[in-house]
Parts: sequence; structure tokens; C-alpha cells
Amino acid sequence: MIAIAGGTGRLGSLVVRRLAQRGLDVRVITRDPARADHLRDPSVEIAVADVRDRAGTRMAVQGASTVLSAVHGFAGPGRVSPQSVDRDGNANLIDAAADLGAEVILMSVVGASARHPMELFRAKHAAEQRLMASGVRWTIVRATAFLELWDDIMTKSIVFGRGENPINFVCVHDVAAVVECVTLDHGDRGRIIEVGGPQNLTFNQLAEMRQRVRGKKDNVRHVPRAILRAGAPFSRQARAALVMDTIDMTFDLTREAADRPMTEPLEALSRR
Ligand SMILES: NC(=O)c1ccc[n+]([C@@H]2O[C@H](COP(=O)([O-])OP(=O)(O)OC[C@H]3O[C@@H](n4cnc5c(N)ncnc54)[C@H](OP(=O)(O)O)[C@@H]3O)[C@@H](O)[C@H]2O)c1
Repeated sequence: MIAIAGGTGRLGSLVVRRLAQRGLDVRVITRDPARADHLRDPSVEIAVADVRDRAGTRMAVQGASTVLSAVHGFAGPGRVSPQSVDRDGNANLIDAAADLGAEVILMSVVGASARHPMELFRAKHAAEQRLMASGVRWTIVRATAFLELWDDIMTKSIVFGRGENPINFVCVHDVAAVVECVTLDHGDRGRIIEVGGPQNLTFNQLAEMRQRVRGKKDNVRHVPRAILRAGAPFSRQARAALVMDTIDMTFDLTREAADRPMTEPLEALSRR
């Protein structure tokens, strides 16, 4: 049985469906079973747990042979944070899997490191380190920014900052295909797999592409860096927006084996 924390999310839901369609037993771990309503299927069980709760997490993964973590605490309900979910919640999942003798697949981010300016990337690094030291059989999948998330964030044609910094965007369906593959292929244990999209785009280019796909020309409005700086002490999102407007967020495709489906951003946007 494959227990998936974050199975209700954008990526997790796709992975749950793919694994369930193969007839595999899947257990979705969620804080609120209503969020799993769209996943109801005879081979999908629902377990209620918050990964920040060590005992509850342990109960939720009982009987699993694989534990997949697609959680994050960057944003979302329940006063989450990267420290409490990505670092400590993942530690709870990893420790529970270790006690069970289960394998762990961990979703992380391209660029995860101890000194990254974004707290999410530091927390993901901490989770990666914890996993690699845990003694369990593991695979880490690092992805770049999900195109579909940013398509939703940019519905009002608002760009945070100047929008001139190239960023790699990947189609979430392509990431789900990789996660499905590594979950099934035990030969990938002990590997960090990086998944990016075929193009680096600035937010201005993405805004223009979104408008082309929708055949609708809006004025792109910018939230100036000065406003983001003013909000930074109080808002994780403002801090992250500043980082995304300034540091290297590109992805070099030669870093990964490109023998996997890779959807062009224009095609991914058109399909929605
Ligand atoms: N979005 C991106 O651009 C991006 C890029 C690279 C990597 N990733 C990684 O890919 C994974 C999936 O991201 P996503 O954007 O698809 O996520 P999402 O749609 O925002 O969903 C977040 C998931 O995390 C779960 N979660 C959050 N806090 C939790 C807690 N305390 N206890 C249990 N579950 C909790 C939520 O479950 P409930 O609300 O049902 O409890 C939900 O299923 C994450 O690990 C993320 O870091 C994302």
C-alpha cells in the first residue's frame, strides 16, 4: 500500500489517480477528508492526519510499504509553515516510515539548499538530509515551479516585481508522470531526480503567453519591488516574490535525462 501525504493537492491528486488506475492500493493522508472527495475510488482509502502530529502521522502510515510526501507548508490553510510541514512534518513521515521499514518518496524543489534565501528551500533541504540519514530506501524528486499554479496565481495579470527574471516552469502532469514512475521503479532508490520544463520564462513572458492562449489582452500590472520589500517582514509570499524576481531560478535540461514527456508551456496552458 502506498500512503500519500499531500494526496489532495495539485500534484498529489494526479499521482493518486495514476496509481489507483493501475489498481494499486493508495491511502491519501489529509487533514480534512472533504478535500479528498474528488479522489473517491474503490482502491483509494482516506486517512485523517496532520503531518505535524507525530503520533497521528505514525497511525496514518501503518501498513504502508511506500510513503510518498507531496506536502508543503509554504501557503494554505491551518497556519502551516515550511518549518512545521516541510521540515518537521516530513521528519515525522520519514521516522514513521523507518519504523515500518517502508520506502519514502519525497517531493522537493530544484535548488533546495541550506543557505537558500527562501525558507521553503531550506526546509526542503533539511527534509532531504533527514531522509538520506534515515536508513530507509528513498527517492527524492525535485521539481521547478509548477506552471499550472502560476497560471492560477496570474489570473488577474499581476506580476510581482519587474518580472524580468527567467524562471523554469514545469507542467505538473509531467511531474506526476515522473513521480508515478519512481514510485513503481525501485531501481530509482538512492537517487535525486530533478524535473524541469523545456523553457525558462520570465513572468512577463508567461503573462504574455497566458493572454495569447486566452485571446485576451489585459494590461499587466506590476507590484513594485518597493512594495514587496515593505511587506517582506510580515509576509512569506512577499519575501518569496522578491527572491523569485532576483535570483537564478533557471534550469538546465542537460542536468536530467530528457527521455521523459516534456510539455511545452504554451501547450500546457492551452490544455487547461
Ligand atoms: N507548486 C510548485 O510550484 C512546486 C514546485 C516544486 C515542488 N513542489 C512540491 O510538490 C509537492 C506538491 O505541491 P502542490 O503545489 O501540488 O501542493 P498543493 O496543491 O498546495 O497541496 C498541498 C498539500 O499539502 C498537504 N498538507 C499541507 N499541510 C499539511 C499538514 N500539516 N498535514 C498534512 N497534509 C498537509 C495538503 O493536504 P490537506 O490540505 O488535504 O491536509 C495538500 O494536499 C509539494 O511537496 C511541493 O513542495 C511544488
